[in-house]
Amino acid sequence: MTDRYAVLGNPIGHSKSPLIHGLFAQATGQDIAYTAIETPLDGFKDTVLAFRASGGRGLNVSLPFKLQAYEIATEPSERARLAGAANCLKFDGDRILADNFDGVGLVNDLQRNLGCPLAGKRVLLLGAGGATRGALLPIAAERPALLSVANRTADKAHALRHDFAAHTPLQTGGYETLVGQAFDVVINATSTGLTQEALPLPAGVFAPGAIAYEMVYGKGLTPFLKQAQVAGVSTVADGVGMLIEQAAEAFAWWRGVRPDTRAVIQQLTVPLA
Ligand code: ATR
Repeated sequence: MTDRYAVLGNPIGHSKSPLIHGLFAQATGQDIAYTAIETPLDGFKDTVLAFRASGGRGLNVSLPFKLQAYEIATEPSERARLAGAANCLKFDGDRILADNFDGVGLVNDLQRNLGCPLAGKRVLLLGAGGATRGALLPIAAERPALLSVANRTADKAHALRHDFAAHTPLQTGGYETLVGQAFDVVINATSTGLTQEALPLPAGVFAPGAIAYEMVYGKGLTPFLKQAQVAGVSTVADGVGMLIEQAAEAFAWWRGVRPDTRAVIQQLTVPLA
């Protein structure tokens, strides 16, 4: 029997998840159907429960429901708990398991696809919202030399230092605190990739040989990536690989089979020119 999965979001029309999971299913011979469900803003819980009642096996959860996905879980993973958000649910009888694969997707993309090991590197995350929360633990697990979070509202960055204190030391502050510092890996986890706004990054924040990573995908050269190029950064990437790697983690969690991501990344990558 075909097992059913879906992604919930609002809006969800442009989601690439059905295509990605369809390609994974084809490549691994798994008999699944995966659809996108536009979910009413006040109807997340009802939609989840109705999908489960109709035999659905698991869900991906996109914006703006990641927080509610965590809250509906009976068994959230530790990284979902620390992120305060989940992007993946699995149904098992009455149990609703939740996990957050965004951070591990980012780390896998950086290390496996972009050839950028994080161990011993100086890593800077820009932004202190949900995207950064989800990324911190998986990045810290790779043992960077320094993990720094800069945010427009410095207090939100400081709050992260407090929340993650038991897991990793964090350097936190506003953008002005970056003056005089250089990083090997700079990740834009703010929403400016969507709004096409520039960040007040001091010159010199990109170390020689640095990589600049925009978590948003499909937006071409965003202001952040352009800033990086102007500063001489030659390796710039958007979040398409992160999207596909987190999908592979979800697929493996649901199906017990790990799909190969390379061909899918090749198919979905749009050159950043
Ligand atoms: P997400 O869950 O996608 O991370 P979020 O929680 O709304 O979304 O966080 C958005 C992030 O983008 C925040 O870090 C926000 O900074 P503030 O905490 O100061 O609001 C950041 N952000 C959004 N617009 C920005 C801008 N124009 N300049 C700098 N940072 C911006």
